[in-house]
Amino acid sequence: PLRAQVIGHGAYLPETIWTNDELARKVETSDDWIVKRTGIRQRHIAAEGELTSDLAVAACRQALERAGVSANSVDLIVCATATPDETFPATATRVQAQLGMTRGAAFDVQAVCSGFVYGLAVADNFLRVGQAKTALVVGAETFSRILDWNDRGTCVLFGDGAGAVLLRAQGCNGGNGDRGLLSTHLYSDGRHHDALYVDGGPSSTQTTGYLRMEGREVFRHAVVRMSEAIDTALEANDLTPGDIDWLVPHQANVRIIEAMAKRLNLPMERVVVTVDRHANTSAASIPLALDEAASDGRLQANELLLLDAMGGGFTWGSAVLRW
Ligand code: ACO
Repeated sequence: PLRAQVIGHGAYLPETIWTNDELARKVETSDDWIVKRTGIRQRHIAAEGELTSDLAVAACRQALERAGVSANSVDLIVCATATPDETFPATATRVQAQLGMTRGAAFDVQAVCSGFVYGLAVADNFLRVGQAKTALVVGAETFSRILDWNDRGTCVLFGDGAGAVLLRAQGCNGGNGDRGLLSTHLYSDGRHHDALYVDGGPSSTQTTGYLRMEGREVFRHAVVRMSEAIDTALEANDLTPGDIDWLVPHQANVRIIEAMAKRLNLPMERVVVTVDRHANTSAASIPLALDEAASDGRLQANELLLLDAMGGGFTWGSAVLRW
């Protein structure tokens, strides 16, 4: 059997940083409120003219360089984004062109904050059946462009950034000791549209719109759904919480992350947390966290990682990855 192994990782964060104090000069909020409720201290904001595809390209280039792989040996680019450059074509095709890649296929996946887990699942399935051998999965977002900067309930929560992994199909024995993606599980429930959505779009309003969220409702569901996704992931791989070395969750709110750590009985030292510095970067948050923990030497070969996410839709899901 074939398994999708991570052979490279990369990240990009825009240069400009906005602290909570800077936001407190724009809307009625405070550093104290934001830190207590969310754990967020700052966020990166894309420069004028800096597009989602630019962020994605920077992260992809780094992943390719780390792996020593040329863009033209990539068969597939899956770009997870809810903030594409344009309504069409897919941002992934702009990334493809900028990387100088003239073969293979590139498309976007839209599952908001679960986008990276969705993207991984899509690429994993291509790789397992042999339809592609090498795939880039990139989560890239410029949420600053769809925030209502007058709504303090949402504008303080998000940031911009991109993270990427390069996957390659490798032969394996098929057990859970093999490196690579052991499983992915995806879920959605469209009945929860009103809890988290953007009030614009080409078909509905011919505008881009702004993010709208019922924070409490999302919080409540996130804890329940992300817990369920953890349980399914463990069960499917015949694992117990003690087998997991690292939790790499979507970074929306440190309180949600702490609840997931508790469910896995993991000390917070074994949880990758970036929400304090990145805020919620939607589909980019998990690959940014992966890149950080891999780059600073926390993630060691053969360790077992659990990825867990939830986003608008609602969508949610998990992935188990032997690093
Ligand atoms: N600064 C100060 N006060 C604020 C702010 C702010 N930035 N935002 C809201 N408040 C006020 C509210 O107006 C409210 O005041 P009131 O009691 O006088 O009406 C009070 O704070 C409490 O508001 P709540 O929304 O009930 O606060 P809560 O404790 O639920 O925290 C939060 C809000 C942080 C948004 C929380 O609900 C949360 O994190 N939810 C999950 C959000 C999330 O994860 N979203 C991303 C999902 S992924 C995706 O797909 C994009």
